[in-house]
Amino acid sequence: MILSLFSFGTILSCVYSVNALGTSCSAPLGPGLAAPGEPFWLETIKDQGVSVYHPNASDYPVFRNVKDYGAKGDGITDDTDAINNAISFGGRCAGGAQICNSSTVSPALVYFPKGNYVVSTPLNTYYYTQLVGDARQLPTLVASENFTGLAVIDADPYIPGGNGAQWFVNQNNFFRSVRNFEIDLRQVPATNEAGTGIHWQVSQATSLTNIVFHMSTANDTAHRGIWMENGSGGYMGDLVFNGGKFGIHGGNQQFTVRNTTFNNVQAGVSALWNWGWTFQRVTMNNCQIGFSILTGGTTAETQSVGAEAIIDATVINTPIFIQTSKPSNGSLSGSLVLNNIKLDNVPTAVGVLNGSVVLPGGTTTIESWGQGNVYSGADGTPRFVQGPIPAPDKPSVLLDDSGHIFGKTRPQYESYALSQIISVKDHGAMGDGRTDDTAALQAIFDEFAGCKIFFFDAGTYIVKSTLTIPADSRIVGEAWTTIAGRGLKFQDIDNPQPVIRVGEPDCQGIVEISDMIFTAIGPAPGAIIMEWNVAQPSGVNGGTGMWDSHVKIGGSDGTNLQLNCPTRGAGAFIDNCFGAFLGLHLKPSSTPYLEGTWVWVADHNLDGDGSTQISIYGGRGILSESQGPAWMIGTGASSSYW
Ligand SMILES: *[C@@H]1O[C@H](CO)[C@@H](O)[C@H](O)[C@H]1NC(C)=O
Ligand SMILES: *[C@@H]1O[C@H](CO)[C@@H](O)[C@H](O)[C@H]1NC(C)=O
Ligand SMILES: *[C@@H]1O[C@H](CO)[C@@H](O)[C@H](O)[C@H]1NC(C)=O
Ligand SMILES: *[C@@H]1O[C@H](CO)[C@@H](O)[C@H](O)[C@H]1NC(C)=O
Ligand SMILES: *[C@@H]1O[C@H](CO)[C@@H](O)[C@H](O)[C@H]1NC(C)=O
Ligand SMILES: *[C@@H]1O[C@H](CO)[C@@H](O)[C@H](O)[C@H]1NC(C)=O
Ligand SMILES: *[C@@H]1O[C@H](CO)[C@@H](O)[C@H](O)[C@H]1NC(C)=O
Ligand SMILES: *[C@@H]1O[C@H](CO)[C@@H](O)[C@H](O)[C@H]1NC(C)=O
Repeated sequence: MILSLFSFGTILSCVYSVNALGTSCSAPLGPGLAAPGEPFWLETIKDQGVSVYHPNASDYPVFRNVKDYGAKGDGITDDTDAINNAISFGGRCAGGAQICNSSTVSPALVYFPKGNYVVSTPLNTYYYTQLVGDARQLPTLVASENFTGLAVIDADPYIPGGNGAQWFVNQNNFFRSVRNFEIDLRQVPATNEAGTGIHWQVSQATSLTNIVFHMSTANDTAHRGIWMENGSGGYMGDLVFNGGKFGIHGGNQQFTVRNTTFNNVQAGVSALWNWGWTFQRVTMNNCQIGFSILTGGTTAETQSVGAEAIIDATVINTPIFIQTSKPSNGSLSGSLVLNNIKLDNVPTAVGVLNGSVVLPGGTTTIESWGQGNVYSGADGTPRFVQGPIPAPDKPSVLLDDSGHIFGKTRPQYESYALSQIISVKDHGAMGDGRTDDTAALQAIFDEFAGCKIFFFDAGTYIVKSTLTIPADSRIVGEAWTTIAGRGLKFQDIDNPQPVIRVGEPDCQGIVEISDMIFTAIGPAPGAIIMEWNVAQPSGVNGGTGMWDSHVKIGGSDGTNLQLNCPTRGAGAFIDNCFGAFLGLHLKPSSTPYLEGTWVWVADHNLDGDGSTQISIYGGRGILSESQGPAWMIGTGASSSYW
């Protein structure tokens, strides 16, 4: 999975100083050196991350290893309480007695070493939390036979006796990530719906990655992989569902799902409602139904599935690929778009529950097919279409060898040894929310790019002038480590400057960034939060990318753009409330692969009461001048107030 590390001739064209090897350090990174049996480097790296705006920052742990909180992972002991203590420790923002809507000052990365962790009630995850398993040997969460509750992992618990009240506002349930787990529900009686893997009722800046669900294959199984009744997400990918009644069950305003496999599931996806979902690269083996879709209404009262797009699917030995609950006739039916669907022994491609076969299947490929209203130009009159539609022209540079849209799993460097990772705090950066770290970080990048993987210990790293991430950099944060621009350099709206510049213009090389947040401290009318120049080495798709990393403008402690920026009418600017000139600028030479990136100008304050609306002015969200290839998967920009 790790790509070759530096490309000789091209790196030399970069502007920063390099030696004859094409890198400024003496020992290029090379392949991963972790010994067999060695734990994931994240488990053993020195723990020195700090949440700098936490009122009790020096005592508040960001990193928590569940074994330090008493979890055994021995497959016998009930570890529920120990894991929940690891999650909640430090008076974190949650429901129940400590009710709160959100907090950015109490982040947590809850780490699970390899092992089998028995749980009997839900693991309640809090706001701004990541649950991370050993990426080398995935830990298994085993639901006990007597498991009770909504799901093994619950991202938005209901308050008992609370009349439907929940810990968090589902549309504002941001900043969550779960990765590297197996979840085994097979001990829970098949007919018990408590056999659910994850209750994932979440919104933007959330991800599920690299998770395998094991469920009962009994005919009467009620097990579900993911249950999601509503929310406003989000991205998930690299998921495998084995058995169960449903792999993914539910609805959400919007979601992007990449690279999922469904084996022996009764209905791979049971979609109750949405505004728009995209499934990209789906594999289904021996299911009964691929997608079971509730259709028939798109008004506020009748909302069912508004739009489902399925791109690059392989479906094998499955009687029905898509089943809608009502015939589609255009007026209120929602939309379905299929592109590059390979069927192998799938008698019905699209059918109606207890109704007609709309599109027969067989062993065949559906190049491009649609059902729903088509609009042309500015004409508001729809034309109902149910049949083949012109296939979009997909340039080959965007595709992989199998003709699918290219995708790249988030790099976690699990084959690398601890000695190949360096902590920026160990090399002079402070990350304390006060010190200007520009020179320290620039020196670390320039010394070690191409030779080490950069670990940004949790913190807020202030930069007072542009920080250039050179080509040949791999950067990993810790529960969304923040780099924040501040000061005079970012004040001139007529001469905006990048806070972070990814590669010098026309520079080539690998750049990978995950788990980071980029921002500016207000006011910053002249800040371009992030500018991408770097191009992937020739032919190395996804060589320059960002996973689970975001541009966030205002709305949290330390940003100076909170309640001092009350809501007001459009155009009524307050100078001190200019958050950025531009969020993310993709320059012509850049070839970004963005997966799950959210560029957000805060419309409410995430700290404090977590609900008060504010008006921050951000000039622009994403400006893409990239000449390609560029992939934006589960990526978007939002604000109430550009
Ligand atoms: C600070 O954190 C420590 C450890 O979590 C805790 O024992 C202590 O009570 C906290 N102090 C305050 C003032 O919150
Ligand atoms: C549920 O099962 C676990 C693990 O087998 C056990 O420790 C626990 O006591 C059981 N709880 C109840 C309520 O039976
Ligand atoms: C499950 O259902 C299938 C199809 O209806 C049937 O052929 C099979 O015998 C059933 N298996 C069990 C164990 O009931
Ligand atoms: C979320 O979904 C649940 C279950 O369908 C429903 O009861 C609730 O009203 C929904 N909440 C919102 C805010 O849409
Ligand atoms: C898809 O996900 C699986 C893990 O579920 C992973 O092994 C594989 O590399 C991924 N493929 C792509 C193209 O992302
Ligand atoms: C489509 O079906 C709905 C009921 O499902 C009906 O009310 C509507 O008149 C139909 N529209 C057309 C254009 O046939
Ligand atoms: C579809 O048919 C099955 C039996 O063939 C029946 O149980 C079910 O209620 C029907 N569903 C609808 C929505 O008509
Ligand atoms: C959470 O937000 C709601 C409004 O959505 C507000 O009424 C409530 O006071 C907030 N809760 C807290 C603990 O501040």
